[in-house]
Amino acid sequence: MHRAKGFGVRVTAADHWIKPAENWARLQAASLADAVMPMHAEAHALPFADGCFDAIVSVDAYHYFGTDDLYLAYVTRLLRPGGRLGIVVPDLEAELEGSAPPEHLRAHWDRDFNTFHSPAWRRRPWERGGGVEVEAADAVPDGWEDSLRWIEACVADGVVRARGDLDLLKADRGRTLCVARAVARAK
Ligand SMILES: C[S@@+](CC[C@H](N)C(=O)[O-])C[C@H]1O[C@@H](n2cnc3c(N)ncnc32)[C@H](O)[C@@H]1O
Repeated sequence: MHRAKGFGVRVTAADHWIKPAENWARLQAASLADAVMPMHAEAHALPFADGCFDAIVSVDAYHYFGTDDLYLAYVTRLLRPGGRLGIVVPDLEAELEGSAPPEHLRAHWDRDFNTFHSPAWRRRPWERGGGVEVEAADAVPDGWEDSLRWIEACVADGVVRARGDLDLLKADRGRTLCVARAVARAK
């Protein structure tokens, strides 16, 4: 939404969990109905033509489907040459040792967190695979604090399911978790 407003672009907002009608009401309230088209889509079955996007942006979602090594090639075929894929995800500062969650996070661990990796882990297959030039793959400086502020705002707004994430981030305070960003340019 903010991207459409700030950059004057047309956005196709594909989401799997949130119904388009729900997002449509939000877009109308934000006077963005002309700029953003909400639609339902599953990340492995995107109904778009190859090369039809200038940019693909994924915020707090790519870890749910993008850990598959084949996914980068699948999604970047939708970009025109020179188009960019940008992701921001909750992540780990470094890959975990062993098979158990870190001691201080054990009480809060959820199996979804097994999708967290490190920026270095994400960079390697992107570089190795070719087809894209990796422009960034690192941790956002103090990103966990930004996350904490966002989750606190969600909880204050009555989003009950955000409470687990709040406990997790407070228990960690940036020791293990980070927010990763990665940008790849299609060749
Ligand atoms: C934590 S929410 C983030 C939502 C939003 N991008 C934000 O930052 O507030 C995770 C999002 O991942 C999306 N997601 C998870 N699995 C998906 C899949 N298989 N295909 C498409 N989207 C998926 C869900 O639709 C959901 O909106």
